[in-house]
Amino acid sequence: MSGVINESTLIEIQNWRYAVKKFDLAKKISDKKWEALEQSLILSPSSYGIQLWKFVVVTNHELKTKLKAASWNQSQVLDCSHYVVFLAKKNAVESDVTDFIESTVKIRGGEAQALEGYKKMMVADFVNGPRNKVVAEWLAKQTYIALGNFMTSAAFLGVDTCPMEGLDARAYDKILEIENSDYQTIMACSAGYRASDDKYQFAKKVRYSSDRLIIRK
Ligand SMILES: Cc1cc2nc3c(=O)[nH]c(=O)nc-3n(C[C@H](O)[C@H](O)[C@H](O)COP(=O)(O)O)c2cc1C
Repeated sequence: MSGVINESTLIEIQNWRYAVKKFDLAKKISDKKWEALEQSLILSPSSYGIQLWKFVVVTNHELKTKLKAASWNQSQVLDCSHYVVFLAKKNAVESDVTDFIESTVKIRGGEAQALEGYKKMMVADFVNGPRNKVVAEWLAKQTYIALGNFMTSAAFLGVDTCPMEGLDARAYDKILEIENSDYQTIMACSAGYRASDDKYQFAKKVRYSSDRLIIRK
């Protein structure tokens, strides 16, 4: 599949997306669109394909109210249609790698033995290797890839978003009752539809020029 949309449409969609400050309370994302957006989370790439993440989808009003209080009181948490909290695993252990290898064999067929080298490489890298010292940070970084993919996918479907880092992640862990689990909150993203009077949608994008940001070699 190539050339599904043209270049100007791509740029138009990138400009259409902005970090929504005020959502339209009355507008909800349809089930069909939401299912596709969940797939965009699931289909996001991760390092080695290891997927040591989870996505908590919150639509419950009471839970959103609690999360809003732990998010600098930002209105987007409560007013959006669907609120996604991105979790990453706190550590990586050998069974995470075994799990992944088993899934690969189940889905693609073949023998686990053929993936022994790949498995050893992963174990020597982020389970027993030097990367394990920073593994929580490394796993957290992966979730930002899913966040970016989610936001862009939403924009393609005409769904608005606001990425949310202005939150107390440890308070989220308690509210979501995951504080004793292997996972922790990294950040979140509101999704829904912009309010017609959200003035930020009319603000020009503040972006540095390509001269400043792109280095051509
Ligand atoms: C990881 C991340 C976290 C952010 N956290 C918040 C947030 O908590 N609240 C908010 O209103 N905007 C948040 N933003 C939005 C940024 O301020 C915004 O994307 C940036 O100013 C560029 O503007 P634009 O997205 O409208 O083009 C966040 C953006 C990113 C990428």
